[in-house]
Amino acid sequence: MTTQDTARRPALRSQRLNQITNEPHTRLDALVKAHAPFETQANFARFVVAQYLFQSELVGLYNDAELIAIVPDLAARCRAEAAKADLADLETGVPAPVAGAVKNPTKAEALGWLFVSEGSKLGAAFLIKRAAGLGLSETFGARHLGEPAGGRAEGWKSFVKTLDGLEVTEQEEAELDRGAIAAFNRFTVLLGQAYATTPELA
Ligand code: HEM
Repeated sequence: MTTQDTARRPALRSQRLNQITNEPHTRLDALVKAHAPFETQANFARFVVAQYLFQSELVGLYNDAELIAIVPDLAARCRAEAAKADLADLETGVPAPVAGAVKNPTKAEALGWLFVSEGSKLGAAFLIKRAAGLGLSETFGARHLGEPAGGRAEGWKSFVKTLDGLEVTEQEEAELDRGAIAAFNRFTVLLGQAYATTPELA
């Protein structure tokens, strides 16, 4: 394999996923910022609505026995409850589900979705600092962006190590990619939905 081939196809699965989601991540980052979530608590609350919707759609995956067999602390990683508590802090109602949630993904697809959800905890380290400017913290209003138990970097490293160590077929590799891309697309839809709806009071 030439150097160029290596650059095109990273050796590690997680690196490949990083690479293929780089463009959607950049787009989503810009989209989040375009909504000025840190300008007012009301703007931030809409961002939390998107985060809650995304996390609540993944509850089934975080609690799936087959996936827990792969990632033992998976259930504890779920942030749906934290995001729900943030909504209450921000006096924002729990949004109704939005049609189009992930349904019956294959195991590999599910891991692609979880890669994105877990990866989003890295960006959260930056976001929580901005949220502090609105008087919010990991104990009020921005719980879902807080440092996970055991540490942010450690949690990510162990997830990636597990993911990279899995034996998967070529078809499953493709499913992983599909799941990760679908997760970014879904978050984009939910973000649009969250800012399109009028704020409801809890
Ligand atoms: C729903 C999924 C995601 C959302 C909504 C999201 C959102 C964001 C946003 C808004 C930032 C900018 C923070 C700032 O500069 O203030 C950011 C940064 C970052 N995100 Fe994500 N992200 C997601 C998924 C991921 C994934 C899957 C990874 C890693 C695999 C990741 C890794 C990072 C890292 C390392 C940063 C820090 C700055 C950078 O390198 O760009 N994120 N993210």
